[in-house]
Amino acid sequence: MSKKISGFSKFTKEEKINWLAENYFKNSSITIATIKQYWNDTEKLQELHDDFIENTISNFYLPLGVAPNFLINDEEYAIPMVTEESSVVAAASLVAKFWSTKGGFKTTVLGTTKIGQVHFIYAGEKDSLETYFNNNKSKLYAATASITKNMEKRGGGILDIQLVDKTDALENYYQLHITFETKDSMGANFINSCLEAIATQFRTDEIEIVMSILSNYVPECLVRAEVSCKIEDLGGEDPQKFAEKFYQAVKIAEVEPYRAVTHNKGIMNGIDAVVIATGNDFRAVEAGAHAYAARLGRYTSLSHCSIDNGIFKFWLELPLAVGTVGGITALHPLAKLSLEMLQKPSAKDLMQIMATAGLAQNFAALRALTTKGIQHGHMKMHLQNILNQLGVTHLEKEEITKYFDGKTVSHAAVVSKFNTLRETLN
Ligand code: MEV
Repeated sequence: MSKKISGFSKFTKEEKINWLAENYFKNSSITIATIKQYWNDTEKLQELHDDFIENTISNFYLPLGVAPNFLINDEEYAIPMVTEESSVVAAASLVAKFWSTKGGFKTTVLGTTKIGQVHFIYAGEKDSLETYFNNNKSKLYAATASITKNMEKRGGGILDIQLVDKTDALENYYQLHITFETKDSMGANFINSCLEAIATQFRTDEIEIVMSILSNYVPECLVRAEVSCKIEDLGGEDPQKFAEKFYQAVKIAEVEPYRAVTHNKGIMNGIDAVVIATGNDFRAVEAGAHAYAARLGRYTSLSHCSIDNGIFKFWLELPLAVGTVGGITALHPLAKLSLEMLQKPSAKDLMQIMATAGLAQNFAALRALTTKGIQHGHMKMHLQNILNQLGVTHLEKEEITKYFDGKTVSHAAVVSKFNTLRETLN
């Protein structure tokens, strides 16, 4: 029987759930109970979440954790992180503490401008197009006046409009390449509204607008985070050896794309967790970061390391287009709370906090990889997931966790310990 449906979005929430349960699940009552188990008891809060997207049936929880002890430009922070990966918050917390005794993280914003483009087709003379553009440029700005008014009051707005000839790449393809400053907002709606107003003003019988949209490639909305210390302050048995091996690991990520992607994924473990916690758009941040990593024509590491005159330095540079106003930042109660935890940062502050979280995560991963290996810490943190999957009781959880303290965790070892324990208890 066909499962095609029309008018689904018009169904009530109950109707949607019932239809789904009947058509896609074996056991409707279990399905419905699972979906409803995650509804919020407070009706108003549930309604707020229902309205974020279309066809909401329930909420999908992810844990919100906190990594305290971050020292960033001499300010102390507890960083909120939303992630499903068990070791991320633990690693961030450890590294935050480690660097807090060595001057902490130093960060700078290198730029804040964002890009939007009106893509169009024009088959006429280039000179005529240029003349038309130059004669009408002020009208393009004027067409956005009602949209830019408030942004300009906050010090933002349209910084520049350029006509770009792309006909070498694609026949008759030109664009308006527009630079924006959006201050504390991520600015997606603002930029797209401006672009559409500009496109409407710009179009003629000869200029066919194909599309108007912001770019998530923001190489000039850039932030840098750095840590440094004397090699001997890195601690451990042989700090010189550690520094050299760590340096090698970064160099490998700089030259080897297979490694660079995983290396950068580790950085994004930290960044995405803060991006999600603060109600920002993690797909935009991910797309922009990886495009930046490939800006030289070859995918490379976002972080770098140097060892000079006994000083170990480790830093990261990446674009981050994020906001602290607008979107769901004030609407989602936990995003709002996360921003308050971060002392109500400006977008620039938030860029620096996120870059720090990324650098900390990268440091933790490389430190583990070049010393004990990654599985030691990962499996230690994953232990609780394995135990939950096995359906252990509280008592069994306590017992098995105690047993694995200081021992290497593996799935097989946990199952074996669990079975032995169950046998002795029965
Ligand atoms: C796992 O989520 C992230 C790492 O693979 C990062 C890395 O290899 O650098 C540990």
